Order: sequence, then C-alpha cells, then structure tokens
Amino acid sequence: MERHPFLLLLVVSLGLTLVALCAGQNQFIYHGFTGENLTIDGTAKITPEGLLELTSDKNDLSGHAFFPTPMHLRRPPNSTVQSFSVNFVFGIQSFYSDRSYDGMAFLLAPTNDLSAAWPDGYLGLFNISNRGNFSNHIFAVELDTFQNSEFGDISNSHVGVDVNDVRSVQSSFAGFYDEKGVFRNLTLYSGRAMQVWLEYVEEATQITVTMAPIDTPKPKRPLLSATYDLSTVLTDPVYIGFSAATGPVSTRHIVLGWSFDMGVPAPALDITKLPKLPRVGTKPRSNVLEIVLPIASAMFIIILGTIAILFVRRKLRYAELREDWEVEFGPQRFSYKDLFHATLGFKNKNLIGVGGFGKVYKGILATSKLDIAVKKISHESRQGMKEFITEVVSIGRLRHRNLVPLLGYCRRKNELLLVYNYMSNGSLDKYLHDVDGRSTLDWTRRFQIIKDVARGLLYLHEKWEKVVIHRDIKASNVLLDDEMNGRLGDFGLARLYDHGTNPQTTHVVGTMGYLAPEMVRTGKASPLTDVFAFGAFLLEVTCGQRPVKQDTQGKQLMLVDWVLEHWHHGLLTEAVDMRLQGDYNIDEAYLVLKLALVCLHPFPTSRPSMREVVQYLDNDLPPPELAPTRLGFSKLPLMQNKGFNPSVMSYPELITSFGTFSGLSGGR
Ligand SMILES: Nc1ncnc2c1ncn2[C@@H]1O[C@H](COP(=O)(O)OP(=O)(O)O)[C@@H](O)[C@H]1O
Ligand SMILES: *[C@@H]1O[C@H](CO)[C@@H](O)[C@H](O)[C@H]1NC(C)=O
Ligand SMILES: *[C@@H]1O[C@H](CO)[C@@H](O)[C@H](O)[C@H]1NC(C)=O
Ligand SMILES: *[C@@H]1O[C@H](CO)[C@@H](O)[C@H](O)[C@H]1NC(C)=O
Ligand SMILES: *[C@@H]1O[C@H](CO)[C@@H](O)[C@H](O)[C@H]1NC(C)=O
Ligand SMILES: *[C@@H]1O[C@H](CO)[C@@H](O)[C@H](O)[C@H]1NC(C)=O
Repeated sequence: MERHPFLLLLVVSLGLTLVALCAGQNQFIYHGFTGENLTIDGTAKITPEGLLELTSDKNDLSGHAFFPTPMHLRRPPNSTVQSFSVNFVFGIQSFYSDRSYDGMAFLLAPTNDLSAAWPDGYLGLFNISNRGNFSNHIFAVELDTFQNSEFGDISNSHVGVDVNDVRSVQSSFAGFYDEKGVFRNLTLYSGRAMQVWLEYVEEATQITVTMAPIDTPKPKRPLLSATYDLSTVLTDPVYIGFSAATGPVSTRHIVLGWSFDMGVPAPALDITKLPKLPRVGTKPRSNVLEIVLPIASAMFIIILGTIAILFVRRKLRYAELREDWEVEFGPQRFSYKDLFHATLGFKNKNLIGVGGFGKVYKGILATSKLDIAVKKISHESRQGMKEFITEVVSIGRLRHRNLVPLLGYCRRKNELLLVYNYMSNGSLDKYLHDVDGRSTLDWTRRFQIIKDVARGLLYLHEKWEKVVIHRDIKASNVLLDDEMNGRLGDFGLARLYDHGTNPQTTHVVGTMGYLAPEMVRTGKASPLTDVFAFGAFLLEVTCGQRPVKQDTQGKQLMLVDWVLEHWHHGLLTEAVDMRLQGDYNIDEAYLVLKLALVCLHPFPTSRPSMREVVQYLDNDLPPPELAPTRLGFSKLPLMQNKGFNPSVMSYPELITSFGTFSGLSGGR
C-alpha cells in the first residue's frame, strides 16, 4: 500500500514531458528534441545538441517536422475547431547579416507529407498549382524573411497568418509591443532566439500571434490578431508541425522548444531548459566572411602565386648546366647567379662589345670587387664541350702577362659564359682604326704591343705542355691592360666550332685577311696558320689599316698587296701608318714589315715559327731576307672570294701563286 504513491512520484519526477505527452494527446511540451520521435523530412534533422534544424544550407530546399500523431481539434468530429494554443522558440541564422531566404512557418495540415510543396517563395507549404486552393486545408503562421511582392509581402522580416496560401490573411512587421505599448522591430534572421505565442479562441474565431525576444516575457499586446473561422479550414484530425525553406543563401531555421495545448494558454516554456543556439555573432562574422575573407584569401592566393612565380623564375633565371666531369674545374666554375648580379642582369648598359662569338659584358664580382668581362657564347651542341672546356680552363689556369687571364666559366643550357679579367684599356683595334679623335698609339707603344702579342702566342705554341693554337689572332682580340701591355684574348675559342663538324660543310673560322691559304683549303689549323694571322696583325698595327678594305668601286683590296707594291718600288717605309707622321723608328718598322711579309708566306713551311718571330723582334736574329722577286699576292683567290666557303676555292690557282712567291725567304 505504501509503494503506490512512491512509484507514482518516481514516474512523475522521471519525465515531465513524457507525462504531458501521455495526457490524452491534448498537450505536449518539448525543451529541445534530443531522442524525440518527430516525423521529419527534407533537410530537417535533430542536431546532437537537441536543436530541431529544419534547414541548414542553401539551394532551394525545404524541411518539415511534425508531431508524430495527428490531433483531434474537433470533439465530436463534426463540431467546430476548439480553442488551442501553441508556444515555440525559434532562431533564424543567415550566412549574411542583411538578408536571408526564405522563411519558416508553424502549420496545421491534413497530412504530414508536404513533399510536393516548393521551397522557393512557398515556404515548403504549397506549390504553384495548389497555392490558394481551399482543398489544401492548411493554416499557418509564417515567419517570412523574404519580401515577395508577388504574394503581397510587406517586408523581409514579417509575420503573417496564412490560410491555404502564402498570401497572408493578415501580416505585420516582426516585432513586439513593450510595456509602454511602443512597437519594437525585430529582425527575424538576426540569429537570435525569439518566442512566438499563437492562440485560437473557438468562440470568437480569433487568432492572435505574439512574439518577443527569448529573454522578454510575453507582451500584453499581441503582434497581430485576425478573425478567421478555422472550422472552415482544418480537417480532423490535423498534423501539427513546422516547415522551412532556403533559397540561394545558406540559412538555418531552428526550433529550440515547442509546446501545445487544447485550450488557452499553452504550457510556458522554461527557457533555461532550452538548448543553446549556435554562437551567432552573425553581424561581425558575416562581415568578416563576406568582405575580409574573400579579400584575404584572394590576397593569399596572389601572394602564394607570386612567390611561386618568383621562385620558378629565379630557378629558371639562375639555372645552370653541370656535368660530372666538371668537378675538377670546381674552382674555375662560376655560379650564374653571381655573374648575373655582377653584370647587373646582363643589362645593355654593361655591354662592352659584340664579337664574333657573342656579347661581352662588364661586371664587378660582389665578393672580390674584381672587375670582370663576361663573354656570353650561345652554343647549342654539347659535343666537344668537355674537350673545349678542359682546354680553355686549363690554359686559363696559367698566367702569362701577355694573355688575358681567364678566371673561369659557367654553363647553362645552350650557353657558355667565359669570365675574364677586365682590361681597362679595351681592344687594340679601337686605337688603330678609330677615325674620330682618340689619340692613336705611338710607335714605341705599337712595337711593344707587337712584342707582347708575339710572346703571348709563343707561350701558347710552345710553353704549355701541349700546343695551343689560337686560331683567331687579330687586332680586336688584343686587349690592353692598365699599363697598356698587349694581351692576347679569346685563345682557343675558335676551337669550339671545330668539334664534331664535317670539314666538307664547315665554314672556316677566322677572320678575312687573317686566314692562311692552307687553312681555307683544308680547314685545319696549325701553329703556322697562327703565324700567318700574326703576319696580318703586324701589317695592321704598322700600317694602321685593316688587312682587307674596299676601294671606291667596292673591290676588295688586300693590305698585303699594297705593302708588297711599296716594297717592289723600294718604298716600304711609306707603307707605315700616316698618323705617326713619320715619328717612328725606321729600323723597327722595316723589320716588322719584312717579318710580316715572311709570316704571310702562302707556303706554310716558309713561314717562321713564333720562337723565331720573337727572336727577330728582339734582334736576336738578323732581320729576315726578302728576295726582290715579283710576288703574286693579288692572285690569291682567297682574298677575292666573297664567301668563306673553302669548297669553291680553286686549288690550282693557289699553286700558281706559290710559284711567284718562291722569292720570299722564310729565313729558316
Ligand atoms: N677582358 C676584356 N676586358 C675588356 N674588354 C673586353 C674584354 N674582352 C672583350 N672585350 C671587349 O669586347 C669586344 C668584343 O670582344 P670579342 O668577343 O673578343 O670580339 P671578337 O670576337 O670580335 O674578337 C672587344 O672588342 C672588347 O672591346
Ligand atoms: C514514432 O511515432 C510513430 C507514429 O506515431 C510510430 O509509428 C513509431 O513507432 C514511433 N517510433 C518510436 C521510436 O517511438
Ligand atoms: C458529419 O457531417 C457530414 C456532412 O457535413 C455528414 O456526412 C456526416 O455523417 C456527419 N458525421 C457525424 C458523425 O455526424
Ligand atoms: C502541387 O502539390 C500537389 C499536392 O499538394 C500535387 O498533387 C501537385 O502535383 C503539385 N504540383 C506541382 C506543379 O508540383
Ligand atoms: C483545387 O484542388 C483540387 C484538387 O487538388 C482541384 O480539383 C481543383 O481544380 C483545384 N481548384 C483550383 C481553383 O485550382
Ligand atoms: C520596422 O521595420 C520596417 C521595415 O524594416 C519599417 O518600415 C518600420 O518603420 C520599422 N518600425 C519601427 C518602429 O522601427
């Protein structure tokens, strides 16, 4: 006997809601929806926090939630609809602070299947064909967040009483009347929780809707009231629930708590028992998301892209070519980056010359502050590159006061860079041929430079462990250092074009007027072809004229012919550069001119070696003898030929000129 009241107490204290629900389906109350058996469809779901989330995303979707069992609002069935009251707390959270789509509604309907209804503008209640049709039997209170003028909406935040249609029977701006009776606007999609009270009074057929922020008690004055006999609308039984719809903006329509009762009023919700809405802060956050975030991410992407581009460009810009065999040249190897910075990015400002092999740039090495000249040679084939670099770099390791020091090299794709000491006084040809202004070199200086170049060439030919052929001796390859010493540059470079090429098709590398006839014929260089070129160089320096020049009719004139003519007439000294104005050592000039003619002998073995040349110049040997036989230089077809194609050279003609040349004694 004592147990019964105890058990009853236990049941009561265990679940107030359960008790309420069981009380004859006349009333129910939900504080959150965790574990509750609602009939939901579409996008609706119950979150782990207990929120009934009708929609959570965009894309014109809708969601519905109904109390699981239908209610009998008419008792007996054919009587009028009785009084009832509803109380619920909701929140609408939009991605944007200033707009939202589309809205939600509390509704009474004959069915819990509204799957044929449309979201966009119809709140998930109707569709275009059944909107306004009395056969819907739907009564709703809409919380509309979109102003759809088609349906007579008054604002994008309004409350309306709807019967079978989204065009409201009566509507009002969302808001409430405070204690003083002053209307306060509310923004439905503010993201804040709000409470709605709905009452229907059977006798007066009056519908009243009241709303307020969640922390505000129920206002005395309702927001709106309408007289409408729901007995003409509702079926029996009816399903009670919610509908919500989203449009193009991500919007969450949430119900936090809900109570219902036949009669008035509905059980009051205990707001402390309600689950919490997710933290909104919609206004600041939406600003952040809407404005700052896209800009920030765009900037981030731009910065990232820029860095990537810079990185790749930097990679490409400084990319080099390195092979295993180059390890031994480590000390002579320059990084492209260093050269790039030394020459200020190979700017035209730093361009000091353009030669047969490529452009030459002046630069200053960042670390040593050393002045350098960088020769950029474009070179496609990798064939022979190893031999070439081995040779050039090996020679570069040697230091001779009459060679331009080669400091090292760098390789890139299709490009070879040679790094030389910078010769502050430039190349000799500028002094010899510069017409305007620059004071020409006096004889003493010229004679000294001739001796310098002879020593440099001798060094290449004999002093190094193997014979190095220069292949391109000429005034423009003689550079003058700070002290105006002559230094031979470009040694071995012509070699770059020798490797792996077919002698039938190759063009002869060298410079017109400096090419020995046998070189043209066979394409093969030897120390004696260097001697021939040196002879041409001697004439160029002494006469101050280029080895080949054009006369007024465009015919090519050979300097050597001209000198020979003077020699035949016994006027050799008149061939000496006019600009010296006779101010020169006649013996020296005479020696040099004779030596030049001997070096230019068409027959290679009749030429002196560089050792002998140096001895002549140092007066260690008596001057070479020239027999006064008529010489036939002018017949040398080589000189008259426009092109350099050796295959068109006629060999017999060369032979005939040899015959007339025999008078020249090589002095050997
Ligand atoms: N080491 C250097 N120091 C200063 N100037 C140089 C140096 N090397 C080359 N030059 C300049 O660059 C020009 C072109 O050089 P180069 O390629 O050797 O000419 P080319 O191929 O006609 O002999 C030269 O005339 C000279 O003025
Ligand atoms: C939920 O309600 C429906 C309709 O009343 C019922 O059929 C179903 O069994 C209920 N489910 C649970 C888990 O209570
Ligand atoms: C209810 O009314 C309808 C017509 O309005 C009638 O057909 C039906 O028999 C009535 N039912 C009851 C139980 O009175
Ligand atoms: C509108 O809804 C009704 C059900 O209420 C359905 O029968 C009809 O097919 C729907 N029409 C359209 C165009 O979706
Ligand atoms: C209303 O709906 C019913 C049934 O769906 C249909 O027969 C009737 O034609 C509709 N009336 C109008 C005006 O569309
Ligand atoms: C409420 O808002 C509506 C539209 O936003 C506006 O027209 C109305 O004047 C506002 N009322 C008050 C009292 O602020």
